[in-house]
Amino acid sequence: MPFPETRLRRLRRTRALRDFVRETDVRASCLVAPIFVDASLERGRTAIASMPGVERLSLAETVAEAGELVALGIRSVLLFGLPTEKDESGSGAWDDDGVVALAVVAIKAAWPELLVITDVCLCEYTSHGHCGVLRTGSGGQETVDNDATLELLARVALSHARAGADIVAPSDMMDGRVGAIRAELDADGFEDVALMAYSAKFASAFYGPFREAADCAPSSGDRRGYQMDPANGREAVREALADVQEGADLLMVKPALAYLDVIAAIRAATLLPLAAYNVSGEYAMVKAAAAAGAIDERSVVLETLTAIRRAGADVIITYHAKDAARWLR
Ligand code: PBG
Repeated sequence: MPFPETRLRRLRRTRALRDFVRETDVRASCLVAPIFVDASLERGRTAIASMPGVERLSLAETVAEAGELVALGIRSVLLFGLPTEKDESGSGAWDDDGVVALAVVAIKAAWPELLVITDVCLCEYTSHGHCGVLRTGSGGQETVDNDATLELLARVALSHARAGADIVAPSDMMDGRVGAIRAELDADGFEDVALMAYSAKFASAFYGPFREAADCAPSSGDRRGYQMDPANGREAVREALADVQEGADLLMVKPALAYLDVIAAIRAATLLPLAAYNVSGEYAMVKAAAAAGAIDERSVVLETLTAIRRAGADVIITYHAKDAARWLR
């Protein structure tokens, strides 16, 4: 029925009507708060210049932060570790006394009900900053050795599972890593540890601030040989379907805002829970614009999170988590 019988403004007239027909909501319980745990900090926190409001935390502060999150109604964290030492293969990543493993144990001891998700990758732990082991490929160029990296990633995931992680989240973009990690976890009795795959992780300029935060910028080259080309939407669906086949329990799209179409496409193509990562550069832009007085931070953040949910994400990993949880009360 066309106008004038149909008037879409009818249901926008009052706040009660708008609330009544709202299709999408954001709850604190669907937000995941990233935490940077820094093994070189004896105590306290250090600021991250490009990400105002986000800090690197000592182990004790990590536990305190977890408590603050719980009090705000946030029910999950994603842990990133900064080790004291790096090497060629990133061996610190699978150390049972490594920074992430220790943080998982400490958080679980204090807040057993908080969902602990760990980022499984080597780039914070390798001296060269790449997400896997390097070898000299055909043509004499250094390349990340896919198959040799799988075993190392499986070790990392296993060390996190042993520490008590609920969910391991590989972010390396090696082919076959979901299957390799699943097999390793199952072989060691961790069949109940879930796997959230960074399925469609793009080689994005929006990770800039994170690389400062986690000290993981590649010392040479870039990640385009393993992370996805931002131009490719169909390939993102192929990545997601491959992860489903290999046994992923949840999928993820990253970054979020420039990739809402990818979120929607994967939502339509699979039945798995879907996460979106509202990454560091997206956060830094909002913070900078708000500090400049150009936008209202609260409104922009809530609109952004709503849009990511509308696109099809069940879960949102975001540095705005604490602020958003306060605003959503
Ligand atoms: C590590 C990793 C990165 C991010 C999450 N895990 C950086 C990268 O791939 O270069 C980025 C997160 C963000 O920007 O907030 N592989």
